[in-house]
Amino acid sequence: MEATNSRLDVAAVGDLVLLDPLTEESLLQTLQERFRRGDIYTYIGNVVISVNPYRSLPIYGPEAVQEYHNCNFFAVKPHIYAIADDAYRSLRDRDRDQCILITGESGAGKTEASKLVMSYVAAVCSKGEEVDKVKEQLLQSNPVLEAFGNAKTVRNDNSSRFGKYMDVEFDFKGEPLGGVISNYLLEKSRIVRHVRGERNFHIFYQLLAGGSAQLLQQLKLRQDCQHYAYLNQETSDVPGMDDAANFRAMQDAMRVIGFSPAEVTALLEVTAVVLKLGNVQLSGSYQASGMEACSIAESQELQEICSLIGLDPSVLEQALCSRTVKARNETVLTTLSVPQGYYGRDALAKNIYSRLFDWLVNRINTSIQVKPGKQRKVMGVLDIYGFEIFQDNGFEQFIINYCNEKLQQIFILMTLKEEQEEYVREGIKWTPVEFFDNTIICNLIENSKGGILAMLDEECLRPGVVNEDTFLTKLNQLFATHKHYESRETQNARHVMDASLLPHCFRIHHYAGKVTYNVSGFIEKNNDLLFRDLSQAMWAARHELLRSLFPEGDPQKVSLKLPPTAGFQFKASVATLMKNLYSKNPNYIRCIKPNESKAPLLFTPELVLAQVRYLGLMENVRVRRAGYAFRQLYSSFLGRYKMLSPRTWPRWAGGDREGTEVLMEDLAFPPEELAFGHTKIFIRSPRTLFDLEKRRQERVVELAVLIQKMFRGWRCRTQYQLMRKSQILISAWFRGHRQKNKYQQTKRSALLIQAYVRGWKVRRQHRRRFRSGASACLSNFIYRRLVQKFLVGLRKNLPPLSVLDQTWPPAPYKFLADANQELRSIFFRWKCKKYLEQLSPQRRALLQAKLCASELFKDKKSLYSKSVQQPFQGEYLGLRQNPKYQKLQAVAKDKLVMAETVRKVNRASGKTVPRLLLLTTEHLVLADPKAAQPKTVLSLSDIRSVSVTRFSDGFLVLHLKETSTGGAKGDFLLVSDHLIELVTRLHQTLLDATSQGLSLHITDQFSTRFQKGDMAVTVVESAKAGAGAPICKKRGSHKMEILVH
Ligand SMILES: Nc1ncnc2c1ncn2[C@@H]1O[C@H](COP(=O)(O)OP(=O)(O)OP(=O)(O)O)[C@@H](O)[C@H]1O
Ligand SMILES: [Mg+2]
Repeated sequence: MEATNSRLDVAAVGDLVLLDPLTEESLLQTLQERFRRGDIYTYIGNVVISVNPYRSLPIYGPEAVQEYHNCNFFAVKPHIYAIADDAYRSLRDRDRDQCILITGESGAGKTEASKLVMSYVAAVCSKGEEVDKVKEQLLQSNPVLEAFGNAKTVRNDNSSRFGKYMDVEFDFKGEPLGGVISNYLLEKSRIVRHVRGERNFHIFYQLLAGGSAQLLQQLKLRQDCQHYAYLNQETSDVPGMDDAANFRAMQDAMRVIGFSPAEVTALLEVTAVVLKLGNVQLSGSYQASGMEACSIAESQELQEICSLIGLDPSVLEQALCSRTVKARNETVLTTLSVPQGYYGRDALAKNIYSRLFDWLVNRINTSIQVKPGKQRKVMGVLDIYGFEIFQDNGFEQFIINYCNEKLQQIFILMTLKEEQEEYVREGIKWTPVEFFDNTIICNLIENSKGGILAMLDEECLRPGVVNEDTFLTKLNQLFATHKHYESRETQNARHVMDASLLPHCFRIHHYAGKVTYNVSGFIEKNNDLLFRDLSQAMWAARHELLRSLFPEGDPQKVSLKLPPTAGFQFKASVATLMKNLYSKNPNYIRCIKPNESKAPLLFTPELVLAQVRYLGLMENVRVRRAGYAFRQLYSSFLGRYKMLSPRTWPRWAGGDREGTEVLMEDLAFPPEELAFGHTKIFIRSPRTLFDLEKRRQERVVELAVLIQKMFRGWRCRTQYQLMRKSQILISAWFRGHRQKNKYQQTKRSALLIQAYVRGWKVRRQHRRRFRSGASACLSNFIYRRLVQKFLVGLRKNLPPLSVLDQTWPPAPYKFLADANQELRSIFFRWKCKKYLEQLSPQRRALLQAKLCASELFKDKKSLYSKSVQQPFQGEYLGLRQNPKYQKLQAVAKDKLVMAETVRKVNRASGKTVPRLLLLTTEHLVLADPKAAQPKTVLSLSDIRSVSVTRFSDGFLVLHLKETSTGGAKGDFLLVSDHLIELVTRLHQTLLDATSQGLSLHITDQFSTRFQKGDMAVTVVESAKAGAGAPICKKRGSHKMEILVH
């Protein structure tokens, strides 16, 4: 409430809009009273008037920052922080780029105000490592720029000698990202000259006072200011200013901004060069041709400069003392007079310094610039040199005042003219307020066709003799009748006698007062020419920084085109600045200087009144009182405040104006507080706006809570639904899993039970079957085992393979006896077969014969056993060898089976006679041994049977068929030594021939048929008979006894 009270305090209202009565006196009184109380800030609506206190006030601490942070502009005590806060919030919350225009004359406190705004914004925007770094860099640009661009003037100990516009860039959250600094026309003439009581730029004094002995030695400087021609014109110290400390602060600031030590050194070296250039003395002489010439009076300084910048001293000397002129494709070197030489030297010093300053600003910009591509909001702070009226005003003052005139124009346009025009445009009832429009003065200066600057440029470019007189004459002609232009000539014409206006001067009636400008130096300063020899010499230096400052010195890039004039450049940059400012929402800080002596608590009413007048504060208050404090397009207004009425929130379906009307109707503000224009709503008092804002803030909190509530609800719901879904899924999976497990277990159990049951069943069946067939099975098994063992054993112990070997292992078990026997016989047969297979056919036939013999006689006749050992030879006679038997051999031919000698029993006597017996395949031949003649030839088919005895004798009877021809005498009784063989072969031959074997009788009694009748033959065993030779004895005619042994 204190603030409100302070505003409504009748003796010293905080807002001049509330002043009653509104007169120049009351306004002045109010400002004075407030100044006395230490309230240096006063409002006119949202314009801040700041009166320089020239003392430090306890109103800028962190508590003050806290107090004004997020405050309502109209609710707190007027303060520069309030406007800074308002602008910052408008930028952050309403997304409107801002500019803070700080105006006022030199020493009114603009630079201080701009620093306060910056430090406030830095203090309230968010913190963080990166943000703090940016903030520090932005803030630290001030000491550096002030060191190089500020100087003590008669009006201000720290006067800005350049214009500065700084765009601070923020992101959407309001965090500073960086910035861009633009500088306007440095007052470089100060380098070589300044009026009494003033100083050169601070940096020179700071460097000499604060630089260490080592640094000064490195820069080839002396600590003594008096030594330097550019400095010694006045005292070097300013009371209350510690140059050495400021130098250290500047060095620290450079470090913070990001200057490398090498860059700092280079910067100081170039600064030292400028200082030392002032000490280069020239001495004059005359050439043989009578031309004036100059030379370096004392080369020490020049050599030091050259060693600092890495240049051959002779090059610089030549550039300073002579000039190359090009005439008709010829280059001529002309000497310079001493004043020309000094002019060149000073121009060089000024150029080096002003270019160094531009480089400095660019270098700071490189550090603080924002990376391209980022969305940004901008707050521009303009701190430009203030309006200046000196005893002797030159080109610089003209430029500075022109710039201030333009700023005033903006102020007038935006606060007075445009506002009133807007009321008319919007159809609001309005009584016009008179004010001074300075457009006429701006036009006088800047008009591109006939303005003073255009005339100056024209004069500079004009061929022929050019000097300020022709320029002034031209102005006098052009503006003879101009209300704001005066000169001796125009005064004379108007019959005004004013001794203060000297012949070489012209006067302009600026918005802030009349300023008389001396035209001398205008052309030269506007041309701002530097002899090409000098820029080429600078370019030739090895010092990188210095070299980079003079790109035009590169002989490759020589351009005959004249560079744009200083006035033209300044006009262009002011136009850009104006365009920039017009695009932003302006916030005004109007600085007032209370006295000329920089004294605290001293308020000079006349001085302040003059400022109040030219600043147009009275008009400002009047327009403000009659008008409306706030206006906004219906759409934006509705967009911002529609949440205050349930009818417009959350959506308004109708037009923006209707919506706004409905909204304001619901809010029930007094009708006189509002006016509805064609496109905008107007709100008369800030209080209403404040109220509106307050309600909005409360509502925003409500809505934020609602949104939070909804969001939290939504978040919880979503989370719950997600959890539920997840839970269902998990339980489904779990149930599935459990069921699957259960099923698997049941299945396993069922399979187990099944297996058990099947096993049990099978076992039961098996038990049953086992019981019935087990014994058989077992015995079978055992039987098979025994048989197997037996057979395997047999295989291992097979008897020898000889056929004569009869051995055979006995059967181990009785039940195997038959099988064993069978095997034995099989084995034997097999042995025989094998044996047989390896026999020759003859041997085989022999054995077959033996076998046949065995079949016929074995166990039937005793002789057989004896015959077994005897081999069957068949041919016992040797028919082939003995020629005696030739005939017989012919009989036998190839059919001989057997030949031997037998004895034939005489049928009648029973005596025996030898006979040769031949058995062929067809016949049986009996031959006489002596004659070897066949006696009897019997066909084998004639033989009916053969009878032999049981004993071991060779007796045999050949029983013949009755029909046989050879047996006419009856049967033959023969005794053979090879009876067994003979009978056997006979049998075999018969078998082969007739396939009917021999009918053999082994008997003791048989009957034979003789020619004389049958004879009964009886075999008698008797010792009389010899071995093998039986004895036949005839007993009667029909009986015969055969004695055998
Ligand atoms: N708010 C303030 N509190 C205390 N002293 C102040 C304040 N504003 C200005 N001053 C004093 O006034 C002096 C001049 O102020 P400042 O340099 O800001 O003027 P200016 O308007 O920038 O002048 P110029 O146009 O010459 O640059 C400062 O050096 C300071 O001593
Ligand atoms: Mg300043």
